[in-house]
Amino acid sequence: MVDSIKGFRIVRQSLVDVPAGDEWLTAWECDYAATRRVPKRREEWRLGRWTAKLAVREWAGSATPAEIEIRPRADGAPEAFIGGAPADCSISLSHSNGQAICAIAPCGTSIGCDIEVIEARDPTFAADYFTADECAFVESVPENARALATTLIWSAKECALKAIGEGLRLDTREVEVMTSDVTIDDAGASWRRIEVVRWSPRTTYPGWWRLEWPFVIAVVASVEMTD
Ligand SMILES: CC(C)(COP(=O)(O)OP(=O)(O)OC[C@H]1O[C@@H](n2cnc3c(N)ncnc32)[C@H](O)[C@@H]1OP(=O)(O)O)[C@@H](O)C(=O)NCCC(=O)NCCS
Repeated sequence: MVDSIKGFRIVRQSLVDVPAGDEWLTAWECDYAATRRVPKRREEWRLGRWTAKLAVREWAGSATPAEIEIRPRADGAPEAFIGGAPADCSISLSHSNGQAICAIAPCGTSIGCDIEVIEARDPTFAADYFTADECAFVESVPENARALATTLIWSAKECALKAIGEGLRLDTREVEVMTSDVTIDDAGASWRRIEVVRWSPRTTYPGWWRLEWPFVIAVVASVEMTD
């Protein structure tokens, strides 16, 4: 399934979509997969690779999955190669509960995406990881939207931390999520605006999110994306 919002292309796959064999993995990827000894982790890793390869193939307009390689950079961020050469795109990956998304954008764009199950969290979660304004926002929404608000803020933070390339090495309060709309009445059919601000050095990560019950899907980039 391919979704598009402004300049982003977002490919989504689930575990049942992943081919059983390894013929679509490169030799390096097969070796890497073998180091993932916990079956569930290996499955999710393969799902992420499959999803990313479909996204790159769709972006490049050709290339088979076996010609595409998704490697982690030294910091962990994924990078795509076609036939051993860097692909002309930036990608971000996320997998959760048998679902994966890969967001893809023009080369040089810092992007981050995330798929997260909506769940209620202990109030200490927000206190530990959210800024004061984010905590106040969660408190301000109706009770029935609080789990969504918490999940959305966490998800958007992860997007920005991936776009920055640091992930959770960075204090989650160094980025702040700006959103006002967590109504749950339109069943998530539409993409909605979101913005994450890194305070120092000051950088804005505009993006989009969408409710696909029971998941939140979010994507941000270092620049405003246009069609
Ligand atoms: C990036 C991070 C926030 C993602 O966490 P998560 O919610 O468990 O997982 P998601 O499914 O949403 O995302 C996983 C993908 O993020 C990507 N990723 C990992 N590190 C990344 C980084 N520094 N920047 C951007 N993307 C990164 C990878 O593609 C990974 O999938 P893969 O391992 O199958 O290639 C987390 O892995 C992280 O902080 N990593 C870097 C620091 C680290 O390793 N810390 C140890 C744990 S605190």
